[in-house]
Amino acid sequence: MKIFVDSADIEEIKEAYEWGIVNGVTTNPSLIKQALEKRKEKGENIDVKTHISEILKIARSTPVSLEVTEKKAKDMIPQGIMLYRTFKSYSKNIVIKIPVSPAMKEESKNDYEGIKAIKGLSERKMLVNATLVFTPEQALLAAKAGATYVSMFAGRMDDYLKEKHGLKAKKEEYYPMEGINEKGRILEDDGIVSGMDLVAQTVELLKQHGLKTEVLAASLRNKRQVREAALVGCHAATIPFKVLKELVMHPKTIEGMKKFSEDAPEDYKKIK
Ligand code: E4P
Repeated sequence: MKIFVDSADIEEIKEAYEWGIVNGVTTNPSLIKQALEKRKEKGENIDVKTHISEILKIARSTPVSLEVTEKKAKDMIPQGIMLYRTFKSYSKNIVIKIPVSPAMKEESKNDYEGIKAIKGLSERKMLVNATLVFTPEQALLAAKAGATYVSMFAGRMDDYLKEKHGLKAKKEEYYPMEGINEKGRILEDDGIVSGMDLVAQTVELLKQHGLKTEVLAASLRNKRQVREAALVGCHAATIPFKVLKELVMHPKTIEGMKKFSEDAPEDYKKIK
């Protein structure tokens, strides 16, 4: 499974790439905003173009997703092309993130604009990451339109299930992949019982139809979701730096390390 770092923070991305196991970066407008604000607080006055070019330099031509802000296909397509052209000298692997449906109200007329934009950009041989995907059906349409990746928002799906069923739990708290059984009934949304179930069903659906689009587990909140993504054969997971660090840690590893370190004979440590 490919591991992407879900961040626009230069220090986090740099550190993660130093581990040597990172295959790409995903950003979104909120992450870019946070990263720029952090730099501003530190007294660095950096414009967004410079900031993005710094991310691309660290990522060394591994895929980096940059999201469009427009909402109609006729505007999303040129914006995606413009993002690609602006940064292509830093990386050949700029991936344009297109919301699968940019509608901002239930009754909005922009519902299909995302699919049209994905088609329009993929026809131009551009890499597209379909984002804000919450159903396997949306993923199917995005895949048919030529998306390179479909970003399945597992954590936000769990949030939605919690809200819908009035459950009180912290955002980062693990939500069971098999769902929650309440009074003999599994809590669900249109047949989806958890964020990781959404990921698993999408992996299965695209596989069944031989679609090449990669499933990207996104909006991950804890390390168990990363394991579950890997176990269901998800192609990639985009992981916040905080969760990435948690993947390395276990109390028994720390305890064992302490003991080995204390026990190591002095002359053993000095073998040359
Ligand atoms: C990445 O592509 C997504 O934008 C990101 O995973 C969203 O994560 P969040 O739900 O924690 O904001």
